[in-house]
Amino acid sequence: MSSNNHNEHPQKEIDPHSKVETTGHEWDGIKELNNPAPRWWLWVFFITFIWAVGYWVVYPAWPTLSGEGERGGTTGNKGWTQYTQLHEQQQEIIQRRAKYLTDFSHSSFEEIYNNPELYAFALAGGRSAFKDNCATCHGSGGAGAKGYPNLNDDDWLWGGTVNEIHHTIAYGIRSNHDNTRFSQMPSFAGMLTDHQIQEIATHVLGLTDDSIASSEGARLYKDNCASCHGNTGKGDKSQGAPNLADAIWFYSDGNKASIASQIKNPKHGMMPAWDDRLDEQTIRQLSIYVHSLGGGK
Ligand code: HEC
Ligand code: HEC
Repeated sequence: MSSNNHNEHPQKEIDPHSKVETTGHEWDGIKELNNPAPRWWLWVFFITFIWAVGYWVVYPAWPTLSGEGERGGTTGNKGWTQYTQLHEQQQEIIQRRAKYLTDFSHSSFEEIYNNPELYAFALAGGRSAFKDNCATCHGSGGAGAKGYPNLNDDDWLWGGTVNEIHHTIAYGIRSNHDNTRFSQMPSFAGMLTDHQIQEIATHVLGLTDDSIASSEGARLYKDNCASCHGNTGKGDKSQGAPNLADAIWFYSDGNKASIASQIKNPKHGMMPAWDDRLDEQTIRQLSIYVHSLGGGK
């Protein structure tokens, strides 16, 4: 135990060295002098006290049971809260955004491309709308997946100008909108024999691989496929028929079996129309954003 001579009822006395009264507390022969608190310290103490009272009056300080004030507390006589401050700052952002939006909606795509501020505004808006609405199918960066086209490359099914992209987004592909992009690769299952389908698949592979060829396949391709995919397999954007000569595969894996399967049981991608779900300015922002991804043509 350290407090040997610590009395329960302290004996006050005058310390003979300093002539100051002691508190009567004593530890191992060391006595505590009863000096008053220094004046400067008292002043600081009083000032903080006054400050605190002033603060309670001016600012929101005390929680209340009634739930008065924005978050259930005293509001302070200035009505200032972090919430009102936040509202003001948000209001400022909304106003700034509204100004851009007005300028944006009155500008053609060409004008926007020539105005760095509006262009940046469009990209930012498009990027966030893309995350909210498109990323589920196209991936958050637009990189696509099997059956969902990559929007980052400059290989476009339906055209990569900003106006063509706008049309695709607004009306969709094989959607139920009246203006939808529409085309359908027919099934050749009953029209061609298995052998013929294999030969055509060989020819299609030969479009990207010089070591493979089929003259029978080439002839059948011309009769059955060229009307949509073109004589040389370059595709047709007016029908959304993919380029088969670029080794970018959208459905098939680039092997004979998967190409044959597309010929027998073609898959038809569906892209919803956004015309009735997003406002026109958001669709325009999306068009600019998607166009920027692909370095579109
Ligand atoms: C339900 C899935 C789905 C959603 C959601 C979706 N898409 Fe698509 N999108 C597709 C499919 C599938 C295709 C390919 C259709 C085809 O076969 O031609 C496509 C095609 C496209 C194309 C045409 C690409 C080309 O090469 O021409 C663009 C542009 C596009 N989507 C943009 C968007 C944007 C922007 C959004 C969000 C507003 C979006 N998509 C939302 C499924 C989707
Ligand atoms: C009426 C037009 C049309 C005809 C005819 C047609 N196609 Fe297609 N083809 C398409 C369309 C459109 C798509 C894309 C389907 C989609 O986007 O959902 C496609 C997709 C494909 C694909 C998948 C491409 C990929 O990137 O994965 C292959 C392979 C293909 N066609 C081969 C053929 C062959 C071979 C023939 C002839 C036997 C043929 N097509 C006839 C319109 C056609």
